[in-house]
Amino acid sequence: MKGLILSGGRGTRLRPLTYTQAKQLVPVANKPVLFYGIEALCEAGIKDIGIIVGDTRDEIRKAVGDGSRWGVMVTYIEQDAPLGLAHAVKVAADFLQREPFVMYLGDNILKSGITSLVGEFQRKKPNALILLTEVPNPEIFGVAELKEGRVIRLVEKPKNPRSNLALVGVYMFDEHIFEAVDAIKPSWRNELEITDAIQYLIDSGKNVIPHMVTGWWKDTGKLEDILEANNLILSGIRRDIRGRIDGATKITGEVILEKGVEVTGGIIRGPVIIGENTQIVDSYIGPFTSIQKNCRIVKTEIENSIVLEGSDIQDVGGRIDESLIGREVKIRRGPANPLVYRFMVGDKSEIGLK
Ligand code: G1P
Repeated sequence: MKGLILSGGRGTRLRPLTYTQAKQLVPVANKPVLFYGIEALCEAGIKDIGIIVGDTRDEIRKAVGDGSRWGVMVTYIEQDAPLGLAHAVKVAADFLQREPFVMYLGDNILKSGITSLVGEFQRKKPNALILLTEVPNPEIFGVAELKEGRVIRLVEKPKNPRSNLALVGVYMFDEHIFEAVDAIKPSWRNELEITDAIQYLIDSGKNVIPHMVTGWWKDTGKLEDILEANNLILSGIRRDIRGRIDGATKITGEVILEKGVEVTGGIIRGPVIIGENTQIVDSYIGPFTSIQKNCRIVKTEIENSIVLEGSDIQDVGGRIDESLIGREVKIRRGPANPLVYRFMVGDKSEIGLK
């Protein structure tokens, strides 16, 4: 079986971060989201992986390389424009060679991986296997309608959903999907929807089996989902202290300090991960916080947040909560007078004042 990871897409729901960074490379617990997908495929024994890339191709190539780090072989496949998930399957036809494959959306994370699902697909040999999970907001996903355990209808982002079962971004197909992606027409959002291609399989009498996802699943396309994924991954970490802590610092819970981290004074309350060479001075780093490498956090309180590499946050005078702070961001306190806020903030940024 082959793997196909989709890592094109523009990540419009994560601007401004995605003006300068691929959404699949935004870190969750200091690891790019995309790497969770590669690892899930690798664990399931899938070593021949195609990655669909678009505008952010160079960045993705630089981060992933040839796959040898995971013992897999990566082939990059160009998609000129983000014309939909089914379009990506068409573009990958030469790579896939009509072999069965797992299609994995590069911004999805599944707690329990996909090993048992790949096993189920290989045992039962359906034409397609889809993953479903109950969600409170089905209208923003592909939605499945089941009857006596069989899938009867799939609709992409329905206004009036017929169930609360969302399609998770991991799919398994045999060669019949190629006929389906050729047969369908673009949707209202001008994309060839994989949801419509699977509906085509159902309509032409093919065997499409649903599988309910029991562990957590996150599509990290939006801020709150990234923070929640970060929270869920951090919940499973174990203490590993490689950095230096002075005697005035109090550390509790599961905390990872990578090498070169220096903490002087303050409190770190896990689960927290802090990347290489970051300095923390007289600060409170609270639960569910990931700080990447080469940052400086001074006299600041922060929790439930993600800080990307090279950022410098000093003397904030209040607690930073539920925030995603980009690369090389500077947050500083100005002079006591005049009492003003000073911003240099990029397009589509969001600032929440107390
Ligand atoms: C895509 C699919 C949708 C699925 C979702 C899962 O949506 O079209 O059916 O439920 O991924 O992450 P998109 O991210 O393109 O809005």
